[in-house]
Amino acid sequence: MEEEEEVKVLVADESHEKYVDTILKTIADAAKDRGTGIAKRTHEYLATKMKEAKAVIALSGDRFAGFSYIETWGNKQYVTTSGLIVHPDFRHLGIAKRIKDLTFSLARTRWPHAKIFSLTSGKAVMKMNTALGYQPVTFDDLTDDEAFWHGCEGCVNYPVLKERNRKFCICTAMLFDPEEHLPVKIPQEVIERIKKIEGKPTPEKDNE
Ligand SMILES: CC(C)(COP(=O)(O)OP(=O)(O)OC[C@H]1O[C@@H](n2cnc3c(N)ncnc32)[C@H](O)[C@@H]1OP(=O)(O)O)[C@@H](O)C(=O)NCCC(=O)NCCS
Repeated sequence: MEEEEEVKVLVADESHEKYVDTILKTIADAAKDRGTGIAKRTHEYLATKMKEAKAVIALSGDRFAGFSYIETWGNKQYVTTSGLIVHPDFRHLGIAKRIKDLTFSLARTRWPHAKIFSLTSGKAVMKMNTALGYQPVTFDDLTDDEAFWHGCEGCVNYPVLKERNRKFCICTAMLFDPEEHLPVKIPQEVIERIKKIEGKPTPEKDNE
């Protein structure tokens, strides 16, 4: 790394739109290097994620260091943290982990009841997912939202996924199920009672 400046990891906003083209190029270059495909996203898509506080950016002064964004699927029952990228000049410094920790916390805070899943062939991502409590699952356990699976069409391995009827592919499916992290399940009537006492809708409705 050329710069000694401290790397800051923060929830992005509209002021970070100027980094979007660099982010897209860094993602495309990394996919080329790895020989994989990626869910292709437009400038507008990432800029909107920033405006909606659904993106995390890492910066070293004015230099782009890393990025990831959050997507919701199936009526917000499922969430993914997607497009994780660290610029080659800033790798192996723990930045991906800091980005992943922040997107994960952001997702858990906004959609506490959603299942968070990951479909990846990256060893680093699998390691980070495991540390956060994701478990390996079969593809059947992921969302059936067509919009999510549409993202796989840009991948070089898409013919494999299609041939196997979406049941298997090169990627490993991993899922964080919030219900599994509670020692006991709170009955629905108690949840309704709590909502009445607090006089407000569920956290998901608060945020969208
Ligand atoms: C994968 C990537 C995001 C990692 O970024 P990074 O900032 O270098 O990662 P970190 O330093 O935060 O490391 C996080 C963990 O992953 C491990 N790791 C990092 N790069 C790795 C690699 N190439 N292979 C295996 N493990 C790796 C680290 O050892 C660390 O694990 P630990 O906490 O047990 O020590 C980065 O290399 C990148 O952008 N690659 C290209 C795009 C990509 O592959 N994205 C993932 C899409 S699935």
